Parts: sequence; C-alpha cells; structure tokens
Amino acid sequence: MGGMADAPNTAAPEARTKTGAPLRPRNHPAQYDDLADQWWKPRGAFAMLHWIAAARARLVPPPSRGEAVLLDVACGGGLLAPHLDGLGYVHIGVDLSPTAATVAHAHGVDAVVRGDACRLPFADASVDVVVAGEILEHVPDRPLAVAECCRVLRPGGTLVLDTVADTWLARLLVVTVAERIPGAAPRHIHDPALFVDRRALLVECASHGVRLRLNGLRPSLVQLLGWLARRRGEVDMVPGGPTTVLFQGVGVKVGSMRRTAAP
Ligand SMILES: C[S@@+](CC[C@H](N)C(=O)[O-])C[C@H]1O[C@@H](n2cnc3c(N)ncnc32)[C@H](O)[C@@H]1O
Repeated sequence: MGGMADAPNTAAPEARTKTGAPLRPRNHPAQYDDLADQWWKPRGAFAMLHWIAAARARLVPPPSRGEAVLLDVACGGGLLAPHLDGLGYVHIGVDLSPTAATVAHAHGVDAVVRGDACRLPFADASVDVVVAGEILEHVPDRPLAVAECCRVLRPGGTLVLDTVADTWLARLLVVTVAERIPGAAPRHIHDPALFVDRRALLVECASHGVRLRLNGLRPSLVQLLGWLARRRGEVDMVPGGPTTVLFQGVGVKVGSMRRTAAP
C-alpha cells in the first residue's frame, strides 16, 4: 500500500484541572470563562467565594438615599447579589470576563458592564458604594485599580474590599494548600506575586481620600472541617484577628454627599 501512515501523536496531552478546564498560566483571565459553570455550584470551584461574599455584604452600609448605586468591581458570577436583596441599592457589576458578566446578570445583578478594574467605565464621584471583592490580588497594576475605585466613589461614599495579603503564610495557605482543596481555590487562579502589600494599600487609599480600616477574615474552623468532610452547607467567615492571609477593608471617602446649592 502506498498511502501515508498517520504520524504517531507524540504531543503531550494538555494539562487539565479537576473540573476538566485547561490548566492555564497563573492568574490568566480566561480561567473565569473556563469555569463559568462553576459560579453557582454549591460544591463547585468557587464555593469559598460564596462564603467570602456573605462576609463582605455585612460591611455594606444601608443606602443613604434612594436609587443609591453600588458598584461591584470584578463582580464575577454575581455572588454578592443575594446578600444585597432588599437593601435598596442599584447593583451594578463590572467584570473583564464576558461569561461572568452574563452569569452575574442572570443571578440578580441589576446591570453588568464588561470592563477593566484599572479603567472603570464610570464617571468620577458617580457611585455611592464601591465593592472590590477578591480582585486586588488579580490585577497587574493594583495602585491603578485602587485609584479607579476611589475615583468613581462619591465623597461620603464607602469602599469595601477583601483580598489576600502579601505574606509567606498567605502564599502557603492560599496557593499551596487551598489549590489542593476542591472549592477553596482553583489551580493557578492566583499569582502570589500579585498578593497585596497591606501598608501600601492603606497609603494608596489614603492618598485618594479613603482611610481604610482593615480586619482579618478566616473560615470558622469547625464548619470548615465539617464542610471538608461532607461537602455540604456553608462556612461562616469570621472577621477579626490577623490580616496576614485574607483580609477585609472598609473606609469612607472624605467629603460630604450633600450637594452645595448652585450659585
Ligand atoms: C476571584 S474572582 C472574584 C469575583 C467576585 N468579586 C467574588 O468575590 O465572587 C475575580 C474576578 O475578577 C475578574 N477580573 C480579573 N481581572 C479583572 C480586571 N482587570 N478587571 C475586571 N475584572 C477582572 C475575573 O473575571 C473574576 O470574575
């Protein structure tokens, strides 16, 4: 037979994560599109983000006026939405991932815009509350993202954030350990080089008129052990304690929300 034989397939199979998604370089933005079906699975790859979102929501103040706008920077799949129900905010999300934006809107975020945290498509001082949950440890230019969050915030408005500290303990727990625990952190989701220097963050926020107060955040250990054993239920995130791994920040932008009368 004179036909050409098929060349043997010597290419290494593409590495995959436990969910079957391709294993991409650390902090690659397409990971959130690969994992789009995981956002709302109670035992999915983002389970822990649900617990953190519940703790984040407790820092959101009641709206100080009708139609107050809460901007959810890097809203992901909209995990904050159920926790804002009934508060009265207009919940606007912004996210780089097109699939996350679609999922967030389907799960109760009033409007979602595709955009970059480092170039927020919103006017100066146009937002009553800015929430930046689990995003500052993912952006290559954190000072710019912080500047953007503060720029769009009205004087008197509140900035709420949570992120991962730039410490050896965070690298150990959030990367080495959490990536081995299903539901804690998908493989390669974090680049530890981007973890957040707390002192620098405080200085950056202060330079934009927001005096941030930080507190640590950790899972309830008893509930976490129960969850690891049974993979059911929720785990309360306990605020307070050291800020050396996961931490929250909240601060009000200087100035008053009262408008001065036009001359
Ligand atoms: C760890 S998830 C957090 C999602 C959500 N805030 C939560 O806590 O459930 C990070 C999110 O940031 C988004 N993201 C990453 N880089 C971004 C950027 N530069 N601008 C806007 N969104 C970004 C991703 O698409 C993803 O949805």
